[in-house]
Amino acid sequence: LSRLFFTYQGIPYPVTMCTSETFQALDTFEARSDDIVLASYPKCGSNWIVHIISELISADSKKKYEYSEFPVLECGDPEKYQRMKQFPSPRILATHLHYDKLPGSIFKNKVKILVIFRNPKDTAVSFFHFHNDVPNIPSYGSWDEFFSQFMKGQVSWGSYFDFAINWSKHLDDENVKFILYEDLKKNLATGIKQIAEFFGFSLTGEQIQTISAHSTFQAMRAKSQETHGAIGPFLFRKGEVGDWKNLFSETQNQQMDEKFKECLAGTSLGARLKY
Ligand code: PPS
Repeated sequence: LSRLFFTYQGIPYPVTMCTSETFQALDTFEARSDDIVLASYPKCGSNWIVHIISELISADSKKKYEYSEFPVLECGDPEKYQRMKQFPSPRILATHLHYDKLPGSIFKNKVKILVIFRNPKDTAVSFFHFHNDVPNIPSYGSWDEFFSQFMKGQVSWGSYFDFAINWSKHLDDENVKFILYEDLKKNLATGIKQIAEFFGFSLTGEQIQTISAHSTFQAMRAKSQETHGAIGPFLFRKGEVGDWKNLFSETQNQQMDEKFKECLAGTSLGARLKY
């Protein structure tokens, strides 16, 4: 599988989605103070939050939010940043990058950043299914093989744990808000309200309820082909907490618990992640 990745500044990225030219161009990307940055490790619910924020912008501006670029900031051709200069504010910038790999203009312009985390076990299972279910992307021989690569960080966008360690130092920074997949799943309307408040959208309770109804897993899955094309049903696969119990062996469970402790014990993220 190594031919499917290239390494940029020490992290493996999928050759089908990222190029070093795009990373170089990203260094000089000009963020705007009203951009909306959404940071997450893959499979932690990025498409869910992008959808929620799109709905918040549409309700707030009374105009349907349209965005013609693939929402992940570091994916695509290097010219995308030129095209993005024409886009109206606010722009949603989703990213799977570490905090310290984000373009400097994000910090210079004090752009607000929402960070979403999901427990590493469900994240790994979701990542595995994505590789093995979607046609035309590389599959792994078995869950055990994927698990071992995931633990070593030999997967797209590198190690979950490195990402978590990197971001854990910044979760309480000014302009950063932290949200958990598991909390959003438990109480969607409350999560949406918190996201709206953080980005300064003032919506009525009724508007929040409507957005919640449009943002459940079932509602998003039903529309997934329309919104995400043929890949949609694979992207909106199961949407549950605890699916890891269907794949993890007892040994794998212990290995991940140990890794979790080793990397995140004593951090505020370690105390907050739930599974
Ligand atoms: S990607 O490919 O990295 O951008 O994937 P990402 O969107 O971050 O994560 C995909 C997982 O998020 C689940 N999802 C949801 N769960 C609950 N409710 C809603 N509305 C929702 N939308 C997306 C999606 O189903 C993937 O998780 P799994 O466990 O594979 O189902």
